[in-house]
Amino acid sequence: MERILVIGTNGQIGSELVEALTEKYGVDNVIAADIGPHSLYGAECYETLDVLDSNRVAQIIDGYGVTQVYQLAALLSVTGEQAPLKAWTLNMNGLLNILEIARERGQAGKPLRVFWPSSIAAFGPHTPTVDTPQLAVMDPTTIYGISKQAGERLCEYYFNKFDVDVRSIRYPGIISHKSPPGGGTTDYAIAIFHAAQRGERYDCYLGPETTLPMIYMPDAIRATIELMEAPADQIRIRSAYNVAGLSFNPRELAQAIKQYFPQFEISYQPDQRQAIADTWPHSLDDTYARADWGWHAGIGLQQLVEDMMANIKAPQCGLHHAA
Ligand SMILES: NC(=O)c1ccc[n+]([C@@H]2O[C@H](COP(=O)([O-])OP(=O)(O)OC[C@H]3O[C@@H](n4cnc5c(N)ncnc54)[C@H](O)[C@@H]3O)[C@@H](O)[C@H]2O)c1
Repeated sequence: MERILVIGTNGQIGSELVEALTEKYGVDNVIAADIGPHSLYGAECYETLDVLDSNRVAQIIDGYGVTQVYQLAALLSVTGEQAPLKAWTLNMNGLLNILEIARERGQAGKPLRVFWPSSIAAFGPHTPTVDTPQLAVMDPTTIYGISKQAGERLCEYYFNKFDVDVRSIRYPGIISHKSPPGGGTTDYAIAIFHAAQRGERYDCYLGPETTLPMIYMPDAIRATIELMEAPADQIRIRSAYNVAGLSFNPRELAQAIKQYFPQFEISYQPDQRQAIADTWPHSLDDTYARADWGWHAGIGLQQLVEDMMANIKAPQCGLHHAA
């Protein structure tokens, strides 16, 4: 019987991951945690938890008999640039705390499986941009990307040295409608839908031809759970897997939205986020993920736009500006 702790559950991914895991493993077996005082998305079992407080993390893991941890708490690419030291501390020490607890539990005969997400931000300006291979030059330029690259190294190190069963995905930009995005460079691809639904023009902070790898939330959640459920001996990559969803640029997304809202207008005013996007891949080669644990993307642009349009009904205050 698995007992699963998800840290960072008030965020964009955590909120949906908890729902999917609860459906699969039952409400008694999924513990949602975040630094906030309460669950923003109605998680049944919720703990207020600062991932930097390793004693309390250990207490919760022991108290609930946790067998799997998803460590999602982080500062993202845009918010990380506003507070680099805070981003480094949270992103690195949060992961290290979990890896250390997993090492100790493993040595005591109580193995803990760990999921921690990396990002396409771990790549950089000298990475090949088209069909970026699993093993490529990685020279990230943001503190967020640097923390993800270092985190990948740590994961592989803890696996090789201490046999910690840690698994990771280099998430592309994740598009969803349930919760607002958390301050990343790809947030435009969510904000644009809200602007269209409000009947407003969208001022895009990336240029029209800025192609980036993206993934729709249901695919991202499926990839995450499939990786965590795969037999350990099939997981050849212990840093983080490339996982491709789809790739598009703001011009192509705006065109797809215009099929629903012919009056929809977009303008382009690239800001400092353009410089970040310019160092990221356009598309990913996910051969390893396909071969090792059977990954295949399911959702293309048409279906994504249809589903986003169907689900974004009411305007969400602040989202336009948050992106
Ligand atoms: N969303 C994306 O497009 C994307 C892409 C690539 C990688 N990722 C990675 O996935 C993970 C989750 O991303 P997200 O988009 O859901 O982020 P988010 O910002 O929406 O959510 C992060 C959550 O972590 C919580 N948190 C912050 N500090 C904490 C602490 N000290 N202890 C416990 N909780 C804390 C926040 O309250 C928030 O609810 C991150 O590691 C991120 O780097 C996300």
